Amino acid sequence: MILDRLSLINFKNITEEQLSLSRGINCFVGDNGAGKTNILDAIHYLSMARSMHTSTDTQSVRHGEEGFIIDGRFERDDERPEQIVCAYTRRSGKTLKRNGKEYDKLSDHVGGIPIVVVSPGDTALISDSAEERRKYINRFISQSDRTYLSALMRYNATLQERNKLLKCSPSEDMLLIYDTMLSAAAETIFARRTETIAAMQPLVEHYYGILAEERETIGIEYRSEVQETPLMELLLQSRQKDFVNEYTSVGLHRDDILFSIGDYPLRKFGSQGQQKSFLIALKLAEYTLLAKSSGEKPILLLDDLFDKLDMRRVAHLLRLVGGDMFGQIFITDCNKHRLERTLGEAGAEYKLFNIAAGTATTL
Ligand SMILES: Nc1ncnc2c1ncn2[C@@H]1O[C@H](COP(=O)(O)OP(=O)(O)OP(=O)(O)O)[C@@H](O)[C@H]1O
Ligand SMILES: [Mg+2]
Repeated sequence: MILDRLSLINFKNITEEQLSLSRGINCFVGDNGAGKTNILDAIHYLSMARSMHTSTDTQSVRHGEEGFIIDGRFERDDERPEQIVCAYTRRSGKTLKRNGKEYDKLSDHVGGIPIVVVSPGDTALISDSAEERRKYINRFISQSDRTYLSALMRYNATLQERNKLLKCSPSEDMLLIYDTMLSAAAETIFARRTETIAAMQPLVEHYYGILAEERETIGIEYRSEVQETPLMELLLQSRQKDFVNEYTSVGLHRDDILFSIGDYPLRKFGSQGQQKSFLIALKLAEYTLLAKSSGEKPILLLDDLFDKLDMRRVAHLLRLVGGDMFGQIFITDCNKHRLERTLGEAGAEYKLFNIAAGTATTL
């Protein structure tokens, strides 16, 4: 998937901008607060119909304006052109159009423009609770698998109902109905999580090895209560406890993914650079799997590339993503000279944009 042209109106600090992009590496350089990440976020909107940060659509409208428009002209790997326009107004909300036709549901678009993002905020995946990691794996699998997304929605809705029921002394019969529904949805979710994490494991190891010159080993492992006992049985066992606590205390909503470095938890024993390298390896593994399932090379966004990485790791990364395995790439950095020098050494083809106060100039 290649983004040829990007036009923006009143998106965050960008008043109006039209960018003609390279099919290889696109670099946005400029000072803090210039608008580099904002451009990546606009590209994210075209793929996922929302910001890559927690910010709401309203926060993405330039201060004092009524709405924003993001217009992207893409070319698919089979050379078919595609136009995606995401527009938002404070008054009437968000619309997304593909080749001029508006989607009924925004979620129908997800997966159409595959994308993988590496950003400084990813550290929450390592430092925060298991919920962050579940959200990550859910988003990832949902991009390429509708049945997973619908099973997940069913599971969450049933869980909510079950928890509501537990608060008002329910009949055992009613609980049994919910338990059966939960177990059915859980089967799909558990199978896909198991399969996906197993497929990621060797890829994450491979990419980490390249970045770290095989200096240390890392691991990734899926942990779920249903690995030992079927969910139906677990729910039955915990029923009395659930009555007392008034919530469902077992299930896939307690799953976790363990990240390790040299057999120790990455969160406690990985340095900042090692953690960042791990996150990049994880995202490159995601990229590889997504490319395979979608049949399309995803767009790769690398925000604040040099943050916490030493020059050797950056050079390895650029050589890797500049290769045939990867498609179009977007990179941001504050230091133009550093980025130019490293790209030159990696021998990659690139286009450089200088960003200042929300305006881009080609360098
Ligand atoms: N809705 C908005 N309207 C106007 N300006 C906005 C809006 N939202 C964010 N900004 C401005 O955008 C700028 C931040 O842009 P961005 O995050 O892209 O910076 P950056 O170039 O990536 O900087 P850094 O190098 O620090 O990461 C800030 O100056 C912020 O005030
Ligand atoms: Mg930024």
